[in-house]
Amino acid sequence: MLPMDLRIGNLKLEGNLLLAPIAGYTDLAFRLVVRGCGGVSLAFTDLVSAQGLLRGTPGSLELVRTCPADSPLGLQLYGGEAEVLARAARLAQDRGLPLVDLNLGCPVYKVTRHGGGAALLRDPTAAVRAADALVRAVDIPVTVKMRLGWDGDTIVAPRLAVELERVGVAAVTVHARTAVQKLGGKARLDEIARVVDAVREIPVIGNGDVRSPADAARMMARTGCAGVMIGRAALGDPWIFRDTRALLAGNPPSPAPTREQRIDLVARHFRLLLEHVGEARACQSIRRRIRWHAKTLHPARRLRAALQRQGSAAEFERAIAAFRISDRKVEIDGEPVGVPVQAT
Ligand SMILES: Cc1cc2nc3c(=O)[nH]c(=O)nc-3n(C[C@H](O)[C@H](O)[C@H](O)COP(=O)(O)O)c2cc1C
Repeated sequence: MLPMDLRIGNLKLEGNLLLAPIAGYTDLAFRLVVRGCGGVSLAFTDLVSAQGLLRGTPGSLELVRTCPADSPLGLQLYGGEAEVLARAARLAQDRGLPLVDLNLGCPVYKVTRHGGGAALLRDPTAAVRAADALVRAVDIPVTVKMRLGWDGDTIVAPRLAVELERVGVAAVTVHARTAVQKLGGKARLDEIARVVDAVREIPVIGNGDVRSPADAARMMARTGCAGVMIGRAALGDPWIFRDTRALLAGNPPSPAPTREQRIDLVARHFRLLLEHVGEARACQSIRRRIRWHAKTLHPARRLRAALQRQGSAAEFERAIAAFRISDRKVEIDGEPVGVPVQAT
């Protein structure tokens, strides 16, 4: 399986591995962390309300914040009204973003109640109309991220993908679950393959349950998809893109990151949060993410204990410094003693 450089409309990407939008997690600081680990071809903003963006709500504006190192970046929009989506897409284009993605997968009530996200899977005609309006509104490529259908009895992905291609959508990403499944059950690779078979030439990007480079290679081999999007696995292992790229290229794997490198990564993540969202939110945000980092950083209990308590940048730095040495055995007169979690 050879890696390919993905072309999405007029956007030529290096490689074919995409970071999935994970609302509340894949913010600017995290995207910079993951990009720094290598192998990411394209990343996305969290889903942004088209209406909110047009109104300029602080939340929406923050979601579209980016910087030159955070490139290429797609803006993911949701909404139920074609005209509103189109105007929001133009705004994205004016801000210099190279791609707009339409969300047809979010099952959360806040998003579906006004006809956005996965609600559009129940009305494929409206979904195509929305995509068509987006394509007509901008010169940058428009992509769609969708689920298979609303539920198991209404799988629409293959037919919908054909219609989306017809109106000019440049690529589709398929999260191989239905909306009612949310994140339950398993992603269905056979359904991704059906979408690949259905479209004429646009790239299909597979998504769902890729937890390792081998999973990504398997997804490509079984479905014929042109690219792979990875979400949750990247939260705990931001090196997964680098490692997957190496596997697809037939290159030897890089050495696994050391404990020191993993700690450096948490520290870098915190400092980027500090820079981009300020001290209070940086502290809060890193606390929410400890469980992901703790999956690979030992002793995990100490990491959680240390970071859960911190409430300022200085406390974070002290906690992380203490954690660095917390796996070392300290002996006094030949007797092992515990290392304090928090340096004083
Ligand atoms: C907490 C959370 C938030 C998510 N937010 C978004 C989102 O904003 N937009 C979107 O298209 N998908 C969103 N997703 C779905 C992911 O992009 C992805 O499709 C899903 O997690 C399956 O991929 P994975 O198994 O690689 O994580 C979210 C998933 C989770 C768990």
